[in-house]
Amino acid sequence: MKILVTGGAGFIGSALVRHLVADTEHQVVNVDLLTYAGNPDSLAGVEQSGRYRFEQADIRDGDTMHRLFAECRPDAVIHLAAESHVDRSIDGPDDFVQTNLVGTYQLLEAARAWCNAGAPADFRFVHVSTDEVYGDLADGEALFREDTAYAPSSPYAATKAGSDHLVRAWGRTFGLPVLVTNCSNNYGPCQFPEKLVPHMILNALRGKPLPVYGDGQQVRDWLYVEDHARALLRVLKAGEPGQTYNIGGWNEARNLDVVHGICDLLEERQGDRPAGVKRYRDLVTFVEDRPGHDVRYAIDAGKIHRELGWKPREDFPSGLRKTVAWYLDNRDWWQRVLDGRYRLERLGAAS
Ligand SMILES: NC(=O)c1ccc[n+]([C@@H]2O[C@H](COP(=O)([O-])OP(=O)(O)OC[C@H]3O[C@@H](n4cnc5c(N)ncnc54)[C@H](O)[C@@H]3O)[C@@H](O)[C@H]2O)c1
Repeated sequence: MKILVTGGAGFIGSALVRHLVADTEHQVVNVDLLTYAGNPDSLAGVEQSGRYRFEQADIRDGDTMHRLFAECRPDAVIHLAAESHVDRSIDGPDDFVQTNLVGTYQLLEAARAWCNAGAPADFRFVHVSTDEVYGDLADGEALFREDTAYAPSSPYAATKAGSDHLVRAWGRTFGLPVLVTNCSNNYGPCQFPEKLVPHMILNALRGKPLPVYGDGQQVRDWLYVEDHARALLRVLKAGEPGQTYNIGGWNEARNLDVVHGICDLLEERQGDRPAGVKRYRDLVTFVEDRPGHDVRYAIDAGKIHRELGWKPREDFPSGLRKTVAWYLDNRDWWQRVLDGRYRLERLGAAS
C-alpha cells in the first residue's frame, strides 16, 4: 500500500511512519508542515529508505493537498497532523481552529477529488482523534464507548470533535470511505517535552521542579505509542468504513501516580541523579489547576479487540520503564529539542 501520512514528523506520526517503513509491504509519503512539534530527528532511521518520501506542506493549503494526491496517488490516508497540546489551545486557539478544522476540511476535499479521479476502489481515509472529545467522566462512571456523546471541554478537544464530525459527514454525504479512531493519552519515545511524561522525566533529570496541576488526582488512560501505531495499521487494513474505533491501553492512572512512577524509575539510575537532588519525588510541586481541566478519561477498547483482534502489548509499568530508559539513552534527541537545534538547523540558522 502507498500510504499518505499527515503529521508524520510528530510524536505518534513518527512512530507510525517507523512502523510502516519497517513493514516492507508499504510505501509512505509523509506530509508535515514541521511546526514546533514536527521533528525530523525522530525519523532518522527511515529517511534513507527508498519506500519513504517527505513532503513539507501545510494541510490548510487546499491547492497543495490536491496536487499531492494527484502526484502521490495514495491507496490510503492516515491523518494525524494537528495542533495537539491542550495548554497551547487555551493560550491561543486560532492555530487549533485553522489546522484541526480547516486543515482537515481541505484534506477531505482533496481526498474526495482523488476518489473521483481514479483512487483505488479500496481507498481508505483514517482520521486519528482523541478520547478528549468525550469530555469528563466521574469516578466510577462507565468508560467511553464509540457511542458516548461528545462533550469536549478544551479548545483542543472541541476542534478535534469538530474534525471528527467533518470526517463522518464526508463519509455519509459524499461516500468517502472514512474510519475514525479515538485514542487515549499516548506516551513513549520522541514525545515533545511539553507533554506530561517527557516533561517530568526531563525536569527531573535537570533537578527542576515537577509541576503537577491541582491535586494531581486527574485520571487518564495511557497507551504506549507503538501500540497505537499497530492499532492504526490494523484499522486501516481491517476496519469497516463508516465505523469508529476507540483505542486505549486499559491503563487508568492518576497524574500524581504517573509522576511518582517516573521518579521511582529514575531512582534506579543513580548515575543520572543531578547534584542536590536527594529523592526525585521531593521535586514534585503542585501548581494552579488548568482551566476546564477534565477529571477523568477512561476508554473501553473492547470493540477494536473483538472486531479487529487488536490489543496493547505494553502495560503501563513496562511501557513507562521503556520510555524512561529511552529518554536516558537518547539525550541528544531531547537536548536538540530543548536548545532549539532541531529547528534552527532546518531553518538554516545554525552554523
Ligand atoms: N498525543 C496523544 O496522546 C494523542 C492521543 C490521541 C490522539 N492524538 C491525536 O493524534 C495526532 C498526533 O498527535 P501527536 O501527539 O503526535 O501530535 P504532535 O503535536 O506531536 O504532532 C503533530 C504533527 O502535525 C504537524 N502539523 C501541525 N500542523 C500542521 C499543518 N497545518 N500541516 C501539516 N502538518 C502539521 C506537526 O508539524 C507535527 O509533526 C493528533 O491528531 C492528535 O489529536 C494524540
